Amino acid sequence: SQATSVQQQACDSFPHMEDEYADVDWDNLGFGLIRTDYMYVMKSLEDGTYKEGKISRYGNVELSPSAGVLNYGQGLFEGLKAHRNETGGLFLFRPDQNAIRMRVGAERMCMPAPSVDQFVDAVTQIAIANKRWVPPPGKGSLYIRPLLIGSGAILGLAPAPEYTFLIYASPVSNYFKEGSKPLNLYVEHEYDRASRGGTGGVKTISNYAPVLKAVTRAKSRGFSDVLYLDSVDKKYIEEVASCNIFVVKDRVISTPTAMGTILSGITRKSVIEIACDLGYQVQERAIPVEELMQADEVFCTGTAVVVASVGSATYKGNRVEFRTDAGSVCRKLCTTLVGIQTGLIEDKFGWVVEI
Ligand code: COI
Repeated sequence: SQATSVQQQACDSFPHMEDEYADVDWDNLGFGLIRTDYMYVMKSLEDGTYKEGKISRYGNVELSPSAGVLNYGQGLFEGLKAHRNETGGLFLFRPDQNAIRMRVGAERMCMPAPSVDQFVDAVTQIAIANKRWVPPPGKGSLYIRPLLIGSGAILGLAPAPEYTFLIYASPVSNYFKEGSKPLNLYVEHEYDRASRGGTGGVKTISNYAPVLKAVTRAKSRGFSDVLYLDSVDKKYIEEVASCNIFVVKDRVISTPTAMGTILSGITRKSVIEIACDLGYQVQERAIPVEELMQADEVFCTGTAVVVASVGSATYKGNRVEFRTDAGSVCRKLCTTLVGIQTGLIEDKFGWVVEI
């Protein structure tokens, strides 16, 4: 099988690959980079297709100083996770959805993208080759980071002449330093994240550096992350710098409509489906910031963040607190999602891919 041959190839070059586990302090994982054994690289051909991707030892990549990605930010990224199940197998969660999202984003960024099959195959190979870095069940997951970058040299503003699809991975646990404690969000009303007609809805690398200023400032004041408002009226909640947002009032779950300015999260979409299946009413609509401030519960979703409860929001000097107890809607959704991802709950949606 593919899994056996990739693992065999890895073991032949690196004897320690036979170890079941890498030497990692599994109880103290956060969301920092831990270098693993292998990465994946595949370059575009002249006709814009991709061929002959390769697993290689993890290491630095060489780029022209005039690479499109370095000069004009022509790049996309993805994030997905592999979980180790109780019987030692690996589960990927909806890798086809990341592949499709990368293709949609690539169209917006004038880049050719790998096919869905090439993407899923490469992610599968990288998870298997780095298997010893997948945390034990219950300790976290292997975060897999595919990148698509304009690697060709270009001087004038134009699409790069060559693209590189790269994947690396790192074992991770909780995204926030708060661990699994409720988050304190700062509602940002000075800076904007995305505008109509812009790229807020696609996972371009150029959506992320611009939030650093607001995020760093908020973190220095003790907040976990910032929640952005729409850039037209500064009235509706949109997205947290690192994740999507949901509010709950009278057990009705609402989340902002993803219409170009909000990243269409795969966890967001999965949580909506799980919530509907559990019998909750779910609404995708414009949510005024006042509604956030009057919500019973607020929670965030994302691949890195998973489902994280929000304990407080601060908007223009007013701080409000939300319910975060064990009986919360957030807790129920989180347990169900993680249960499906890790194989503890039956996956009736067909989302989990065992590799
Ligand atoms: C993810 O959740 O996978 C992301 O890409 C968000 C990033 C800020 C870590």
